[in-house]
Amino acid sequence: MATLAPEAPARAVDPLDVSRAELYRDDSWHAPFAELRAKGGIHYTEHSDFGAYWSVASYKPLVEVESLPELYSSHAGGITLADFQEGVDVKMPMFIAMDRPKHTGQRRTVAPAFTPSEIARLNATVRQRTGELLDAMPVGESFDWVDKVSIELSTQMLAILFDFPWEDRRKLTFWSDWAGDIERIKTPELRQQRLVHLFECASYFTDLWNAKVGKEKTPDLISMMIHSDAMAEMRQHEYLGNLILLIVGGNDTTRNSMSAYAWGLDQFPDERAKLEADPGLAANATQELIRWQTPLSHMRRTAKADTELRGHKIRAGDKLALWYVSANRDESVFEDADSICVDRSNARRHLAFGHGIHRCVGARLAELQISILIEEMAKRRLRVNVQGAPERIAGCFVHGYRRLPVELSRY
Ligand code: HEM
Repeated sequence: MATLAPEAPARAVDPLDVSRAELYRDDSWHAPFAELRAKGGIHYTEHSDFGAYWSVASYKPLVEVESLPELYSSHAGGITLADFQEGVDVKMPMFIAMDRPKHTGQRRTVAPAFTPSEIARLNATVRQRTGELLDAMPVGESFDWVDKVSIELSTQMLAILFDFPWEDRRKLTFWSDWAGDIERIKTPELRQQRLVHLFECASYFTDLWNAKVGKEKTPDLISMMIHSDAMAEMRQHEYLGNLILLIVGGNDTTRNSMSAYAWGLDQFPDERAKLEADPGLAANATQELIRWQTPLSHMRRTAKADTELRGHKIRAGDKLALWYVSANRDESVFEDADSICVDRSNARRHLAFGHGIHRCVGARLAELQISILIEEMAKRRLRVNVQGAPERIAGCFVHGYRRLPVELSRY
């Protein structure tokens, strides 16, 4: 009879391993992060599903790390806790995962799509589309806010940005979900499936690219890339990487902020009443909802040299998770940080968009979409009433909701 191999000894779970998917699925991340912050905000987890990593969980140390991009690299190990697997993954370079000087050139190429004048140009289109969508929503009937409102509005925006075929726009959502879900790379089968979808995405966008080559410049992102020096000569993988960056960057994040508007204000009805009484608070409420939600829980950096961070010895090659989700609840910066306060005076100081050279290039566009949603709801005197607990995303990267049953009423 064959002898059974001894079982691997069970690994003791570090209670402060905040990379565990269930913490986000069950919304139980608050307590371990509060403990991390109380202990100074820096902690080393030796064993996790993603290997060893440092947590940077308080506001000031996080800003410190982001301010030293030469020391803490975005390129050396990528931007999430999941490591690149040689022979399994295909390298998709994207500028969020590049260091200077390459990062600078590529960021400059897409930045013109997000200048104040471009945002002003997009204002009318976004307002019109949002209004049309809200007018078509049933009042007094149950529906899923995530699918019907958050996904639809953020996907429409991307379709406009890319001049993407309108009837196919949900493909953007599908690809974005595969690209951004850190749990879908935990098995070789899922990694393989993911690659298949990402290549479908690449092939679709290659056709769009080819259709625009040699044509007059138009204000969409693909045309902008074609007509730029830094990006025109990109290799296929690089083009794909940057597209995925823009799709995931602009999709899950805005989507989950819009869901936070519905869910969060339902949790804080007094704040909702304040906003309903004074829609002029929309811009500040937008910042506050982004802070409270923090749609990307972390970004990763990799130390390029031995160093010291507030008394902790970091070695070259160590990975650090910058937990925006926790820094935005740092009590030393945000009073009563777990509560939504639509007129919070320092809501703008949130770190949900990151900090430093990689700070979100699409921030203004995201703010525009969320503010317009709040304003257009107010114009119609529409209120979202949540009908049941949300289904949340299980994973430590994209922080948000899969489903949220709601009903609309008028006030
Ligand atoms: C970078 C969050 C919306 C495109 C980032 C980073 C974060 C972030 C945390 C990394 C910052 C760092 O490493 O310091 C968000 C949130 C959004 C949002 C919370 C919505 C509420 C958007 C939109 C777009 C976009 C609408 C574009 C359509 C990008 C790009 C980068 C980026 C291209 C890379 C910037 C660079 O590396 O220089 N975003 N984002 N994001 N985001 Fe966003």
